Amino acid sequence: MDLIKKAIKVRENAYAPYSNFKVGAAIKSETGDVFCGCNVENAAYPQGTCAEAGAIAAMIANGQRNITEVVVAADTESPVTPCGGCRQKLAEFSHSDVVVVFANLSGEVGRMTINQLLPGAFNKEQMEK
Ligand code: THU
Repeated sequence: MDLIKKAIKVRENAYAPYSNFKVGAAIKSETGDVFCGCNVENAAYPQGTCAEAGAIAAMIANGQRNITEVVVAADTESPVTPCGGCRQKLAEFSHSDVVVVFANLSGEVGRMTINQLLPGAFNKEQMEK
């Protein structure tokens, strides 16, 4: 199953009773493994987590560190781009040229690189003296 299909499939498991906006994310690591996540909302709204955060957590828990491809899926006509916080989270584990695909339930509707999504991203190199 390709990455787009996996993102669309995991979206079905999203817990989004407050926004009614389900999101799925699938990321591929440099080993070719695929990790999926969905948004998980909470009655205490700020405690909700995004689909991308879930997929990244699954990758890290599996011992992987480097993202090579990302798909974010939602039930929209136009592309759903990752929120600001997720752009920063994805940038932590991606080269600037990693492509993020935006998909609706019919498939791909857009793509941008990490650098296009978060130009001038703050990163660990900036903390070096
Ligand atoms: N959401 C994501 O899962 N990823 C994003 O990049 C954008 C927003 C979720 C958070 C919340 O559960 C719902 O979509 C509405 O904002």
